[in-house]
Amino acid sequence: MEGFGMSLMVWKEEYSVGLKDIDKQHMKLIEMVNEVHEAMAVGKSKDVLDQVFEELVDYTKTHFTYEENLLIKIGYPGASAHKGMHAELVGKVFSYKQRIDKGELGVSIDIMKFLRNWLNDHILIEDKKYGRFYSEKNMKAAS
Ligand SMILES: [Fe+2]
Ligand SMILES: [Fe+2]
Repeated sequence: MEGFGMSLMVWKEEYSVGLKDIDKQHMKLIEMVNEVHEAMAVGKSKDVLDQVFEELVDYTKTHFTYEENLLIKIGYPGASAHKGMHAELVGKVFSYKQRIDKGELGVSIDIMKFLRNWLNDHILIEDKKYGRFYSEKNMKAAS
């Protein structure tokens, strides 16, 4: 949907944490953020919107769990704090979802912008921190 202004988030090399599987998952997250945004932009029904939003929420949780297990595996000292940040976002999104399910709230551009900004900052700051830790650890092991 390039050129239609429908991409809310665009992958950039700066997002790379240096781990292929994680980068792939982040790319998929970005793709799913754009799918929800696109569904909104073309005026899809509430059912469709709720569905794609739910898929995004589910995949976000899958990614978080994968990342949290990885951080423990590599011995990242900030693993538990990192998990706490994920939990905070999941809690926030869960409360949005509850309100959406009750019909008090619709999936909106504000919610999507909030998610986009959260993901952007989280990947660039927090995820890249463990990426650096991991590559430094590997360099030490190799020397
Ligand atoms: Fe993370
Ligand atoms: Fe991540």
